[in-house]
Amino acid sequence: LNAQKKSTAISTDNKITEKVLQEVLDQNKHFASQGKVADYIPELGKMNADAIAFSVVDTNGKVISVGDTDKKFTMQSISKIIALMVAVQENGEEAVFKNMGYFGSDKPFNHFGSLEITGKPLNPMMNAGAILTVSMIEGDGETAFQKVLKMVRFITKNNNINYNETVYLSEKETGHRNRGMFYIMKNSGLINGTEDQLDNYFKQCSIEVTAEDLAKIGYFFANECVRFDGDAIYKNTDLSKLIQSQMMVAGMYEFSGEYARRIGLPSKSGVGGGITVSVPGKMGIGVFSAPLDSHGNSVAGYQMILNFSKRFGLNIF
Ligand code: DON
Repeated sequence: LNAQKKSTAISTDNKITEKVLQEVLDQNKHFASQGKVADYIPELGKMNADAIAFSVVDTNGKVISVGDTDKKFTMQSISKIIALMVAVQENGEEAVFKNMGYFGSDKPFNHFGSLEITGKPLNPMMNAGAILTVSMIEGDGETAFQKVLKMVRFITKNNNINYNETVYLSEKETGHRNRGMFYIMKNSGLINGTEDQLDNYFKQCSIEVTAEDLAKIGYFFANECVRFDGDAIYKNTDLSKLIQSQMMVAGMYEFSGEYARRIGLPSKSGVGGGITVSVPGKMGIGVFSAPLDSHGNSVAGYQMILNFSKRFGLNIF
């Protein structure tokens, strides 16, 4: 059965060409006009609404990309899956989820959720839980952030990746809801550190990547935390299952249930316009298009993933 599975996967790969990806991009780029570039972080409002990119890392780790592949954008919430990985590696899953749920939600990403009722964030994908997750990564000042950055550089094999200082400062200045959540959790004793920990959250959101980098991240979690080039130093089957389950349940926020119905693949979006997708045991997909829908998910990005996953029958259900 395994041999049969493998051969199906390889024949899928053979059909994934630049030409097919270009077709997917061309057929769906018009959807961008239905969305709106995020401007609640003022610096994000300056993003080019026309830039669009689509990238796949196939089952053999081969990278195929079309569109504005060199275009950098900030990871934003996609950084939450990397922080979750680092926090769980350091503290173990039990400690990380002691004060946080595995819940899905019908609430947007910046909602306080049940913070005031149960005192605990709903999940590590919404802002409250992500801020708590970041606070659990050990180290003073920027140390915890550097661990997240290092992991992004490892997974993408791209040491040029860094954070965008202007976007970081813009969010630090205006991120009052996030600051509110941070202090509620400090008040209830969930967070013990200083505001450096909140800054580390803002910094990780400002890490700049390309669609190709996102496809590599998708591949990594789809393949037991093994990198696209086969480097297995972080191989961890259980951790990859945890991360993908959270992507499935909450990675697209209150749209996650409908997204699971339409696309059926663990995915994580960011308000920078990126989405990273894991096709379990197979490949990774990375998309970029800045205009967002009302949930904070890239409109054209979603449509490209939908179209591509239908063509190749990738829905895991
Ligand atoms: O904290 C924020 O609001 C942003 N830095 C990240 C939010 C985000 O990306 C939500 N995703 N779609």
